[in-house]
Formats: sequence, C-alpha cells, structure tokens
Amino acid sequence: MSSPAFPVLPPAFRFGAATAAYQIEGAHDEDGRGPSIWDTFSHTPGRTLDGATGDTAADHYHRYREDIALLRELGVHDYRFSISWSRLLPEGTGAVNAKGLDFYDRLLDELLTAGIAPAVTLYHWDLPQALEDRGGWRVRETAEAFAAYAALVAERYGDRVRRWITLNEPYCSAFVGHAEGRHAPGTREGRGALAAAHHLLVGHGLAVRALRAAGDQEVGITLNLDRVHAASDRSDDLAARRRAETLHNDVWAEPLFAGRYPAHEAETWAGLADGPWRQPGDLAVIGVPLDFVGLNYYRPICVTAAPHREPDPEQRTAVDIGVAETDPYGTRHTTMGWPVVPSAFTELLAQLHDRYPRLPPIWITENGSAEADTVTPDGHVHDGDRTRYLADHLQAVADAIAAGVDVRGYYVWSLLDNFEWARGYDQRFGLIRVDYDTQTRTPKDSYHWYRNLITAHRASHR
Ligand code: FCB
Repeated sequence: MSSPAFPVLPPAFRFGAATAAYQIEGAHDEDGRGPSIWDTFSHTPGRTLDGATGDTAADHYHRYREDIALLRELGVHDYRFSISWSRLLPEGTGAVNAKGLDFYDRLLDELLTAGIAPAVTLYHWDLPQALEDRGGWRVRETAEAFAAYAALVAERYGDRVRRWITLNEPYCSAFVGHAEGRHAPGTREGRGALAAAHHLLVGHGLAVRALRAAGDQEVGITLNLDRVHAASDRSDDLAARRRAETLHNDVWAEPLFAGRYPAHEAETWAGLADGPWRQPGDLAVIGVPLDFVGLNYYRPICVTAAPHREPDPEQRTAVDIGVAETDPYGTRHTTMGWPVVPSAFTELLAQLHDRYPRLPPIWITENGSAEADTVTPDGHVHDGDRTRYLADHLQAVADAIAAGVDVRGYYVWSLLDNFEWARGYDQRFGLIRVDYDTQTRTPKDSYHWYRNLITAHRASHR
C-alpha cells in the first residue's frame, strides 16, 4: 500500500508525541512513590479490563533512555509527558520525595541532550490517594494543594521547561471519574462531579500563577472539547445538543475564555448548577489569560434526546442530562469503537475560533488511533490504518489553518502502546509497539511515516 501524502503545515509548526505518567511509567511503588487514585481504582476488582493495572505498564521509569533515543530518531521537536504528583509528593502535600524529583531531572536532562523540548503536563488524572481520602476534587483544599505542587515543580524544573500544561482533560477527571464512574475515583455523583469540575478549574488558575512566578513560562491547559452534532433538526434533539455542549465544552471554555459560567447550565442540571463551591472571585482566578490552549481530538459525537431522570432531592445521583449518543457517521471505527471523521476536527477548530475571540493559540496535544496491530513474520507492524488516520487528521488541521485558525503544533497520541485506563492493555495507540512480556519496543510503519513527514517538513523550511 502506498503511503499517504504529507500534509503541508506552516514553517514554524512543531511536531511531537505524547504520553502520560500512569500509562507508561510503571514502578508504582518504587523509590518512595505514593499511591494515586488510579492505583486504587485499577487494583479494585472489576474496574479495568482483565484487572489490568499500571504497576509495570511500559516500564518507562527504567527504560526512559531507550524511549528518548526512539523519540530522537523520530525527529520530533517536542515531547509531551506528565509528572506523577504522588511520585513527588507521596501524600499530595507536605513531605517531598527527593528520588521522585531526581527521576524527572534525569528525564529532562536526557531530553534536552537529545534536542527535544519538553511540554509537561502536571495532572493527567492521577490524584494522590491521600488527597482523595480528604475529599479529592470535591473540596477546595485540593485546588490549593495543586497550586503548591505546581510551585514545587516550577521551582525545580523551570530552568529546563518552557511549556506547561496544568490539567489534561478535566472533563474526564470530573465527569467520567465522578459521574459515569468509569475512571478513578469511580463514583456516581451529581454534586460531587460538578464541585470537582469547578475545583479543577480553580486549581488550574492557581497553578498558572504559581508556574508564572517561576519565570518566563508558556502556560496552558489541555481540553477535550467536542464537536457535537444533533441526530436531527427536531427541537428536542437540538436541545439535547445544547445540553451536551454545556457538559463537554461550555463548562470549561466559558469560564476559561469568556469569563462567565455556561449560559445553559440551568436547563442542563436543574438545581445542581450553581452550588456553594462557587465563590466570589473564582471566575477571575479561572480566567487568567493563557499562552495557549491544548486540544485533544479523536472523534465527534452525535446526540439525541433521551428520557431525563430528575435529580434526587439530595442531589447525590449521577449527572444525567437526558442525552443519548448515536452514530450516524457510516465510517470506519477504531478498536475503541470511535468513528473516524477528520472533517469534524476542522469544524471543531473553526467553531472554537469563531466562538471565542479571546482564545489563545491552539496546540493539538493529542490525536491518534487505536488499531488491531499485529507483528507480521517480517518483524514489522504494518499499521496502515493508523498512518491514514494521522495523515487525514493532520490534513484537517492544515485545512483549519488555511481557514484562519491559529494552530501551532501537533502531538501524536501516543509515542508508545500503553495502559489505556479502564480498557487496560487491549487498546494500542502507539507509534511504537510494546511487547508487555519482554518490554521490547518495535517502531511501527506509522512511526516511519511520521519520521519521514517531519524530515520533509524540516527540509523544506531550512
Ligand atoms: C485521552 C487521554 C489519554 C488517552 C487517550 C486515548 O482522553 O487524555 O490519556 O487515554 O484519550
């Protein structure tokens, strides 16, 4: 099969690859690391596929040199990874674990020696369990603890890191974690989920200040805003889309980029919307101007109206916004079951550009696909579907740029096959295959395609 053509991107455009601590590091109880909510969750029977945990994962904690050598060979400008909060602060606050700090020193030094710029995420879902035990994101103290952790990290690594991402996909932390219960901490709450959403945003704003205090830093947040379609033009489906956009997009984008709480929150959550967790002055903290916004995109969603359960009087039941998802796309699906619709990516970028005049420059901090990879007898992984996915989505980014959207870079999810949360090790997103029995790394065809794309891009703009 011939390789897809290379999309053409602006000269200063930067290419990268992304990972997250709990998904690759392993070494879950080594060198003083404290447990996070993902350790607890994955060790609870029935929570993850086949009881998978991140105890070993891709063993990156021990193999980071080999992985950085592969990144260097790939030719990326940037590498996005996350820091494990409980490796640095095993209790979430207070005593600092020197060996944890040392690990990220080694990682950063190795990256800089390889000529790769780090883009560091502070929180990719792995809250220290000690903080969960004190209320987790449901309480404001966790936002303050997050700011203290950000200050520690900025002080230690600010000399080597220019680009910081406070939170990864707070939508998932708040709602998949506290309402659907599919992710850690795995609860089904109404008030708790909305309080968590708010405290994540406050924590973000406080962390931005802490990071900037350490010097000339570029600071942003990574969101998984969605392109939401309605199943029909019927008014109930259009209302369902409004509620879904409130949940997926407006909860985050309105306070961050428009200085207000979402317009349609009352119709989305009835009495839950405006809770006591909101304090005067919070919008100013949350809305601090950012240097960039990170966007993770995989697929669009299409919604239709569904029967709506009223919140119980205690408002403790799961968030229910009366929406069901449908899948009218008629396209190929990845092994995650996600429809492949690159045009929706261009639509989403254009929508954000139009809706938020104060939107900072965009970085695509994740995009990629899980596929049923196999190693063929020649020892290769011929993952043509992934290469096609990447080419089509990069073209979608190029189309958005041509239409005037300011997108500065693109990171593939993921560098390595890894622990895909509740889906365990079944879903392979890597440019590099990981054999979990031997920890052998095998670059896939998509890795070679991406390397050639980056080489061509660099050569044409020399
Ligand atoms: C995103 C997560 C990332 C990875 C991809 C597939 O929601 O940020 O860690 O699991 O999905």
